[in-house]
Amino acid sequence: MEITGAVALVTGANRGLGRQFAAALLARGAKKVYAAARNPESVDLPGVVPLRLDVTDPESIRAAAAQAGDVTLLVNNAGSSTGSSLLGGSLDDIKLEMDTHYFGTLAVTREFAPILERNGGGAVLNVLSVLSWFTSPQVAAYSAAKSAAWSLTNALRLELAPQKTQVTALHVGYMDTDMAKHVDGPKIDPAVVAGLALDGVGQGRFEVLADDVTRNVRAGLSGDLAGLYPALVS
Ligand SMILES: NC(=O)c1ccc[n+]([C@@H]2O[C@H](COP(=O)([O-])OP(=O)(O)OC[C@H]3O[C@@H](n4cnc5c(N)ncnc54)[C@H](OP(=O)(O)O)[C@@H]3O)[C@@H](O)[C@H]2O)c1
Repeated sequence: MEITGAVALVTGANRGLGRQFAAALLARGAKKVYAAARNPESVDLPGVVPLRLDVTDPESIRAAAAQAGDVTLLVNNAGSSTGSSLLGGSLDDIKLEMDTHYFGTLAVTREFAPILERNGGGAVLNVLSVLSWFTSPQVAAYSAAKSAAWSLTNALRLELAPQKTQVTALHVGYMDTDMAKHVDGPKIDPAVVAGLALDGVGQGRFEVLADDVTRNVRAGLSGDLAGLYPALVS
């Protein structure tokens, strides 16, 4: 779809990757950008339309959709990261990851799908991760939720095709945002990632793989699992 002239809504747009999405959308000529956030007062980007939206709160999703009936591009970006393992972590944290990444993305998309259809089809961009395809105990609850969101994204692509809504998945490794501030290794600039993802939406791509680590893990899925998890056989 054309980004120029689009009316976009970005969840979690007050900081991190979401803020970069909102800025890139404006720079590429989007007609309007709803910067959705749990606290709209925290949105500080000039030119956007702040909108209250908590992806885990059905009432807030309904209210946002009632205000943003002109959306043609939905960017499901909001995300949590509790650092919970599945056996040692609290069940509340594990559920929060599913509520945010899986049920949150699903609930927002269900509410906006009829709006996208009424506005000609448009597009959905779901922010996933290399951790949709790889896990470790330190990120296990997050990874499981991102895996569920990956499956959700593939299903939505099929279910939304008849109404001509394209669905793009963004997979990326560590980015330089608050979520990965504890990580010492290399981190990609979220502004670069937002640009690559919007290029992919513009080209009608099913999937955008933003960095080498993501491309390597994706390729590794077709090999023996010991290739991805060498500790299992050492
Ligand atoms: N950073 C990475 O290394 C990395 C790598 C791969 C994928 N991702 C994904 O990229 C996306 C953006 O993450 P980020 O790196 O920009 O993280 P971030 O800087 O921690 O920002 C997270 C954003 O999500 C919002 N959010 C969290 N729960 C929400 C909810 N229930 N409803 C609405 N908004 C909510 C936060 O709002 P508040 O300000 O209100 O908390 C914030 O705006 C996420 O989907 C994340 O999983 C991140």
